[in-house]
Amino acid sequence: MGKDWNSAMYWRHLLVLSLAINIGMVAKVVLFHGDEKEVLLCPVEPGAEAAHLSRVVSEGSSLELEVASGVGDHGRVVDLDHGDPTMYEMFWKRMDEETTIVIPGWQSISYFSDPANPCWFLEPELAKQAVRIHQVVGNAVTENRYMVVGTGSTQLYQAALYALAPHGEPGPMDVVSVAPFYSSYPLMTDFLKSGLYKWAGDANLYDKDGPYIELVTSPNNPDGEPRTSAVNRSQGVLIHDFAYYWPQYAPITSAADHDLMLFTVSKSTGHAGSRIGWALVKDKEVAMKMTKFIELNTIGVSKDSQLRAAKILKATSDSCKHMSNPKVENFFKFSFNQMTERWAKLRAAVRKSGLFSLPDFTSDWCTYNQQVFQPQPAFAWLKCEGEIDDCQGFLKKHKILTRCGKHFGASLKYVRVNMLDRDPNFNLFVERLSTMSLIE
Ligand SMILES: Cc1ncc(COP(=O)(O)O)c(C=O)c1O
Repeated sequence: MGKDWNSAMYWRHLLVLSLAINIGMVAKVVLFHGDEKEVLLCPVEPGAEAAHLSRVVSEGSSLELEVASGVGDHGRVVDLDHGDPTMYEMFWKRMDEETTIVIPGWQSISYFSDPANPCWFLEPELAKQAVRIHQVVGNAVTENRYMVVGTGSTQLYQAALYALAPHGEPGPMDVVSVAPFYSSYPLMTDFLKSGLYKWAGDANLYDKDGPYIELVTSPNNPDGEPRTSAVNRSQGVLIHDFAYYWPQYAPITSAADHDLMLFTVSKSTGHAGSRIGWALVKDKEVAMKMTKFIELNTIGVSKDSQLRAAKILKATSDSCKHMSNPKVENFFKFSFNQMTERWAKLRAAVRKSGLFSLPDFTSDWCTYNQQVFQPQPAFAWLKCEGEIDDCQGFLKKHKILTRCGKHFGASLKYVRVNMLDRDPNFNLFVERLSTMSLIE
């Protein structure tokens, strides 16, 4: 009896194992085909920078994604889909000594940074350097504000939605932004299917009465336009995303002075990998609710990263005030010149090819640079003219990866192109773009 039972169990286990292997293989085939389809047909699902990063890794085997490096580049894929700010690497290499930090094993062990601060995990040195950089650049009012630190402004965005949406309402609060909007907003807003808030699309089409949250991104991602609130109704609350309100991208016309403003080192100094953002918040209750969200989400924000970000911000401010190594250029001058050069090259390539167009910007006086200039955004909002309806697909055939306009609530004729990649990739992109009419 015992032997029969053992034998029956053995065959049962074998059957279950075989079923599991088969299901696994079927799932793999189905998922693989799904990915392939997504790559070919202007993917609609991903939008967050990181989501795109993981997609690129999975595509890597078939497309051989390597960084273009000069020699024999013609077959290389130029990946300008996500907004990775690696352009700044060359500046920071020269600032080795000024930006290196060493954290001994005994330091920064506690969860707490500043227990008396409503944001108890905010490192005082980061708070000090963030205020200082705003004073140096003149892009935001910092007086009478609470600062909340986040794991990137991505986490702060979610904390802000949690803090601003009224709790205990019968339905979720609408969240809107003028199209084209940052492709991650709809995804981040609806990811957890919150009962507090939900994505409601293009702010220009929003005609409902009642409370709503409007996201104002200025300069805007993807098109680089300066933005102000569009809906303008009494029951609205605003989140101002100032990831790109820095003088290498746009004229600083005044110190921004709004209820809730988001900033990040990702695009200001290019340290996206440190994952540090900060919010300047007028209302203490809102700042405390945002802090609560982050407490429950990640129990604070990495101290190591905060200390590194503080050091980088200090080096940036010092470079502007000529307080560091005299051989080191002002960071914003360096990055401004890089952006001017890149936009000039891109516009020349677009003119030469005759297949594309770019937005025209209005010049403005910059209180930081003390000159008039046109926005030179971190992304190019490129339009395929004429017969080309699927701009992303068209560029992909030329081994240039971009993000389809559809993710931003716009048409397939548009793509967003990262302008902050390393020199070899950017140069190869403009070279290919300028000769495209010849290839076609
Ligand atoms: C408008 C905008 N806001 C926020 C973010 C996210 O920034 P972080 O890296 O600080 O999460 C980005 C990144 O591309 C962005 O473009």
